[in-house]
Amino acid sequence: MISGPPIAHSRPTLDAQDARAVAQAVRSGWLAQGSRVEAFQRKMAAFVGVRGGVAVNSGTTALELALLAIGVKSGDEVILPSYVCAAPWLAVRRIGAKPKLVDIEPDSFAIDPVQAKKVLTRRTRAIIVPHLFGLPADLTRLQALHVPLIEDCAQTLGATERGRKVGSVGAAAVCSFYATKLLCTGEGGMLLSRKAVILEQGRVLREYDEEPLLVPGASNRKMTDLQAALGLSQVRRLRWFLQRRKAIAGMYRKAFAGTGVALPAVPSGRTHCYYRFVIRLQDGRHSSLEKVMARLDHRGVQCRRPVFRPLHRYLNLKGFPESEKAHRTALSLPIYPSMSDRMVRRVVTVLREELA
Ligand SMILES: Cc1ncc(COP(=O)(O)O)c(C=O)c1O
Repeated sequence: MISGPPIAHSRPTLDAQDARAVAQAVRSGWLAQGSRVEAFQRKMAAFVGVRGGVAVNSGTTALELALLAIGVKSGDEVILPSYVCAAPWLAVRRIGAKPKLVDIEPDSFAIDPVQAKKVLTRRTRAIIVPHLFGLPADLTRLQALHVPLIEDCAQTLGATERGRKVGSVGAAAVCSFYATKLLCTGEGGMLLSRKAVILEQGRVLREYDEEPLLVPGASNRKMTDLQAALGLSQVRRLRWFLQRRKAIAGMYRKAFAGTGVALPAVPSGRTHCYYRFVIRLQDGRHSSLEKVMARLDHRGVQCRRPVFRPLHRYLNLKGFPESEKAHRTALSLPIYPSMSDRMVRRVVTVLREELA
C-alpha cells in the first residue's frame, strides 16, 4: 500500500524563482500597474497568438470588461452554458445584460452549439464560450452562428481546435490567474484580443486616472506589478507546466484503461491541456458523488466536483439534461505540475480500489 500526506485536489506550482521575482518587484519600489504588467500582457498575448492583452484584477473582471468592450449593453442577451462556475453569469448580470443559459455537449462538457442556436434572438450580442477543464469548445460550429464569441480561457491555454489556439479565435478572450489556475498571480485576469478597438476599449474602462475624458463605466480594475512579477516568472515555465499536465494525464489514462472508468473525451480536431482530469462514474452504479468523495478524502485523495453547481440549479430552472448528468457523474482528480509520479500512482491505487 502506498501512503503519504493527503494529496490536494489542486495547488499552485511555485518555486524559488517566483519568490525572487516578487521580491525584486518589492525592492524596485514600483508596486502598482507598471512595466511588469505591460511585459506580462505582451507575453500572454504572444502565447495565445493575439495582438495584445489588458491585465486586470480577476477573471470575472476580465469577462465584464470583454462584454463592455464588445459593446454589450443593458437589456442585451448573452448566451452561456449552465455547466460552468458562477463568474460568467455574474459578469453578464453586472453589466445589466440578460444571461441565456444553454446545455452542454454530451461528452466534452462544452457549450452545445445546437442548443446555442435555438436561443439566438435579434437581441443576442455575444456568446461566452468556456473552454472547460483544458478542452476547447467546438469553436468552428459556434463561429457559424455569427455572434461575437468571448472565449473563456480561465481553464485552458495552449490547447487547439482545428489547429487554432484557444483565445485566438473569438472577438475577445479572457484568462484567470487565480492561485490554482494553469499559471497564477494569486488573483488576476486578462482580456486578450486580436482587435485593437476591443483592447483600447478595455484599457479605457480599466482605469480612471489622468484620462482625457470622464468615462461612465470606467473603474479601477487594475493588476499590480507585484502580481505581474509572479505572472512573468510563471509564464516562463508555462510550456513545462502544460507538458507535465499532459504526462500525468497520460499516466492516468494508462492506469484506468479497461477499468470501466469513463476517461476525458477528446473530440477529433481538438487537443486537451488537462487543467482538470475529469472522469465520469457510471450513472446509477456508484453511490452519490458526495459519498465517493468522502471515502476518497478519508484515504487522503482529494477529488472534487469540477463545477460546484450548474447555473440552472441555482436558478431553479428545469431541463439541461447533459448538465444534470455531468453534475451527477463528473469527478475531478488531482492534477498539477508539482505532483510527483508517486502521488499519481497513489491516486490511481486508491481510486481503483474505491471504484471497483
Ligand atoms: C471558466 C471560468 N471562468 C471564469 C472564472 C473566473 O475567474 P476569477 O476567479 O479569476 O474571477 C473562473 C474561475 O474559477 C473559471 O473557472
